[in-house]
Amino acid sequence: MKTTSMERTFICIPNVGESGYPRLYSGARELRKQSDFVPESEPYTVCSVHPLTPLIGAVVEGVDLREVDDAVHAELHRALLEWKVLFFRDQLLDGPEHIALARRWGNIEVNDFFPNGDVQAISRLAKGPKSIGQENMWHSDTSFRRDPSKVSILRAIDVPATGGDTMWADMAAAYDNLPGSVKEQIDGLKAIHTFTKSWGLTMAPEQVAAIAEIHPPIAHPVVRTHPETGRKLLYVNEPFTTEIVGLPRNEGDELLDYLMFQARVPEYQVRFRWEPGSVAIWDNQATQHYAINDYYPQRRVMERVTVAGDQPF
Ligand SMILES: [Fe+2]
Repeated sequence: MKTTSMERTFICIPNVGESGYPRLYSGARELRKQSDFVPESEPYTVCSVHPLTPLIGAVVEGVDLREVDDAVHAELHRALLEWKVLFFRDQLLDGPEHIALARRWGNIEVNDFFPNGDVQAISRLAKGPKSIGQENMWHSDTSFRRDPSKVSILRAIDVPATGGDTMWADMAAAYDNLPGSVKEQIDGLKAIHTFTKSWGLTMAPEQVAAIAEIHPPIAHPVVRTHPETGRKLLYVNEPFTTEIVGLPRNEGDELLDYLMFQARVPEYQVRFRWEPGSVAIWDNQATQHYAINDYYPQRRVMERVTVAGDQPF
């Protein structure tokens, strides 16, 4: 069937059985690469910023992440709002320097789920034959918190020769490209987020109960607003979002399934090949990510620090 959205015409393929939500369509996407917050003409003078796609992801050169002064941070902050995920090669950060870098963006979170690295508040994600990577689902880090992470900083310690890439998706683009009828339908809706849908399944019942005391199920807006750019962001994800508040279960599940599918559209994505010493800094409010598990049983060891954000609105 043919559908018109804004000034574009595209071909929809109604491939989702009875729900009526057309998941796939061909033709132009509306890809607004820059927020209204960042003037397009403003150049970077301290860092060298090289976009990997027209929309999301840039490699930053000319920066030693051990020595980020105010001028460098100001440009990195602006570049992060513009490109949503920044990549750096050949960085020599140790744990305390990783923490210091993250503190530039705000207060550090302690993760209640992953083992800490050498320094507290660093989550060490060590995968291999005995610990299989489970992060190959599109998600936003810690959306089950009342105040989910604002920024995540991940550095590669040990990576396979090939495989183990990570992908990110721009959730402002995912929202922008929804049909107008769906935008109207989800305006003002909230959805429940909880760790018990995913991480909780791998934990002992008493551990689930203890962490649920800290992180009970929480309702967040289905469409949140970025606190700095003002962009509208689609904010539901596969491992943590369980239901849409106020909708009958079947209807809500179909809508949720359709909305969660949007992160999978390639035009919204960037994919990064890790090397030892690579670092990624991402805006965890504006993006979702997916750690590709194609390297098992090889080792892949990463360390992550997350920065506390605010309650979504
Ligand atoms: Fe993650």
